[in-house]
Amino acid sequence: MSPRSIGVVMNGVTGRMGYRQHLVRSVLAINEQGGVALSDGSRVLLRPVLVGRNPDKLAKLAADHGIADWTTDLDAALAVEENQIYFDAQVTQARVKSVLKAIEAGKHVYTEKPTAETVEEAVALAQAAEARGIKNGVVQDKLFLPGLLKLKRLIDGGFFGRILSVRGEFGYWVFEGDWQSAQRPSWNYRTEDGGGIVLDMFPHWAYVLENLFGRVRSVYAQTATHIPERVDERGETYAATADDAAYGVFELEGGIIAQINSSWCVRVNRDELVEFQVDGTHGSAVAGLRNCRFQHRAGTPKPVWNPDLPVTARFRDDWQEVPDNDEFDNGFKIQWEMFVRHVVEDAPFPYDFASGARGVRLAELGLRSSAEGRRLEVGA
Ligand SMILES: NC(=O)c1ccc[n+]([C@@H]2O[C@H](COP(=O)([O-])OP(=O)(O)OC[C@H]3O[C@@H](n4cnc5c(N)ncnc54)[C@H](O)[C@@H]3O)[C@@H](O)[C@H]2O)c1
Repeated sequence: MSPRSIGVVMNGVTGRMGYRQHLVRSVLAINEQGGVALSDGSRVLLRPVLVGRNPDKLAKLAADHGIADWTTDLDAALAVEENQIYFDAQVTQARVKSVLKAIEAGKHVYTEKPTAETVEEAVALAQAAEARGIKNGVVQDKLFLPGLLKLKRLIDGGFFGRILSVRGEFGYWVFEGDWQSAQRPSWNYRTEDGGGIVLDMFPHWAYVLENLFGRVRSVYAQTATHIPERVDERGETYAATADDAAYGVFELEGGIIAQINSSWCVRVNRDELVEFQVDGTHGSAVAGLRNCRFQHRAGTPKPVWNPDLPVTARFRDDWQEVPDNDEFDNGFKIQWEMFVRHVVEDAPFPYDFASGARGVRLAELGLRSSAEGRRLEVGA
């Protein structure tokens, strides 16, 4: 029996995330491996329908990858019954309108984060999806990074004892665009275009924290626009109106304190672009994208503060690597497979629009906390 296929309307595939991670590394990679494996042993292939604004770009993309269907008419793509899933990787500002259309058309919807720019809209999307009875999901890729999977393994194995705190450091230097081109699209640096590091990264921190440690109960954030002027893709100078760094303190369920710095204005002096240090009564760990080091309390050295003597201890030598013990697939692809199983055979998928809305709420509260200079409760 040949595998069946379902149509997936993919909007925003000419963009960075839509093309590389979702089309090439997920949907096409899934088809290359023979489809998504279901619990009964059968497989389901994905039939992408590319949607966007620029017909030339879409036609080229489709030809490059042997994809039969592309269109600039979203309504027409949604009107086709066999197209069961709508996926959105457009710029954040364009998301709500398209996702609502897909919900109204009765499609199951999977989308990049953030689900919306405001909590009001994010909650409205979750309610609309529930009212229409469609399956819904939001990308939460960081949970599937090998480093965080290893960290989860330590947590599940009881390694930490009581977890006290989490310190996250995320960021790298994004060039201003004048003497070296910027490595991120310019809209990220304009509030009026849906940019800003809080709206970009706090939704990630919300699901990372809630899935590994507990839901966020309160937030204090201080944001900054360290670089007020940048140069865009066309070589034109523009006012960078959005926050390009955010220094946040989050209080979690159970009393764990998480501190996360997010910045596009920091030079990397770490092993990875994001790292989380977790300290517990019985041990500590530092997890990055791929690796995770740990130190058990039995292997913890006893430093004594003495500025008069040179430091001879090599503290980082006292840590051990968590072994792979597994093969780690692309995180975006793993989540696509989970969502397809959720649609086709009702497999569990906890990363829904409601959790997406909690991410948007954390971003909104983070921005408000900074503007008002005070800690804010997140509420249930
Ligand atoms: N999961 C992650 O780790 C991650 C990382 C980066 C970005 N993102 C999210 O992915 C989305 C896309 O980000 P990106 O970095 O790929 O951006 P991008 O600028 O590279 O791509 C955006 C896409 O949207 C389309 N687009 C641009 N303006 C539009 C408009 N006005 N109306 C409709 N479509 C428009 C573009 O043609 C392109 O296909 C954003 O919502 C962003 O928050 C997620």
